[in-house]
Amino acid sequence: MIRMTVKLFITTIVFVLIMLGAMYHYVQPGKSPIARKTGGTAPPDEDDKNNSQLSRWWRKFQGDGEPVQLQANKSAAVTTPPVVVPTPPVVVQPTCKRIWQKGRSSWFDSRFDDNIRPVWSRANIELPADARKWWMAIQESKDEDPAPLLTALFDIGAPDVDPWASRNLTECLRCAVVGNSGNLRQSNYGEEIDGYDLIFRMNGAPTQGWEKDVGHRTTHHFMYPESAIDLSDDVSFVLMNFKPLDLKWMKTALTDGSITWTYMTVRSRIQTNKSKILVYNPAFVKYIHDRWTERHAIYPSTGSLVVLFAVHVCDEVDVYGYGADKHGIWDHYWDPSHIGQTIGQTIGVHDSSFEQLLLQKLQLEGIIKIHRGNADH
Ligand SMILES: *[C@@H]1O[C@H](CO)[C@@H](O)[C@H](O)[C@H]1NC(C)=O
Ligand SMILES: *[C@@H]1O[C@H](CO)[C@@H](O)[C@H](O)[C@H]1NC(C)=O
Ligand SMILES: *[C@@H]1O[C@H](CO)[C@@H](O)[C@H](O)[C@H]1NC(C)=O
Ligand SMILES: *[C@@H]1O[C@H](CO)[C@@H](O)[C@H](O)[C@H]1NC(C)=O
Repeated sequence: MIRMTVKLFITTIVFVLIMLGAMYHYVQPGKSPIARKTGGTAPPDEDDKNNSQLSRWWRKFQGDGEPVQLQANKSAAVTTPPVVVPTPPVVVQPTCKRIWQKGRSSWFDSRFDDNIRPVWSRANIELPADARKWWMAIQESKDEDPAPLLTALFDIGAPDVDPWASRNLTECLRCAVVGNSGNLRQSNYGEEIDGYDLIFRMNGAPTQGWEKDVGHRTTHHFMYPESAIDLSDDVSFVLMNFKPLDLKWMKTALTDGSITWTYMTVRSRIQTNKSKILVYNPAFVKYIHDRWTERHAIYPSTGSLVVLFAVHVCDEVDVYGYGADKHGIWDHYWDPSHIGQTIGQTIGVHDSSFEQLLLQKLQLEGIIKIHRGNADH
């Protein structure tokens, strides 16, 4: 009994010693597959190790090639610097200014009224009594109901709804208002101007021959009978009307050509797309006169009326071709010999000095951006 116990004990000791010896052999750094996995370079006597039982068992357990793979990954990680994947430039969508939102300028907020719409449509066809009275007076007209005259334009195809009746917040409506100033000559603004969503021009403004400086696109052309020119079919004629006769003229210029005189000779016929005609709201003119030009002179000039039209329909407004040269002289980019009003004068019915201050104030308050062009011409 004791002998058997001793025998078993000795056998166990011997077995344990053999096992310890074997383990010692295989766990030396750099010699076992485990060491290879964690320790890096393979030992020079790898041939022997490959044939050893434990090594074969280890490789079988890991799956053939796996330890080599781990080593390759490891060395790759050690010897090659981390690949810096250039992060693609983050395309930041330029934020939309939405100039009509409250909080930018208390000066602006105290004047801006979104409820008086610039377009005269069926929805606001009845003018408030004070607006109608004021409108009849500015060019000394005899009072008559303008609603039937406007309806007659709807009847020949002019749209009777305001295209900007509600704002579309999924888009950003960027507008260029292009005036007729000589500061556009050699300005090279053409390409820049053509990039806007809406491009507003006025009166006799030509583009043909001046594309490099003023661009070639127009979406809306603001004119009154005395300043009207032919337009191409993709352009909206926006009728500036300062008297009932202007509404009558718009119709006859597209039908029988019967009106040839207002306070001066006018074109009896005009080439324009009837389906695109819009009419400037007289009540909006009065609102501009009261709130924005603060009742200076008799009524605001077309230049200011177009800028403020844009301010009330667009999300962003850029202004080109406004202002006089360094001598205070206004001329037209296509006609340097045309000498307009000089600064400080109040010629006729507009106050150009005050209107210029108003535009500068709108810029100062962050509402519009004025591009001065070649102002030193
Ligand atoms: C030992 O085995 C590894 C992995 O299978 C192999 O890459 C290496 O070439 C072998 N060494 C020899 C000397 O055969
Ligand atoms: C080793 O590299 C291979 C191939 O590049 C990859 O598939 C594997 O995930 C890597 N293993 C480790 C542990 O990084
Ligand atoms: C708003 O503008 C987007 C983008 O231009 C246009 O897809 C969508 O039809 C417009 N929605 C309305 C109601 O006009
Ligand atoms: C006139 O304007 C309408 C409305 O925008 C348009 O559908 C039509 O194609 C235009 N006509 C021509 C001849 O371009």
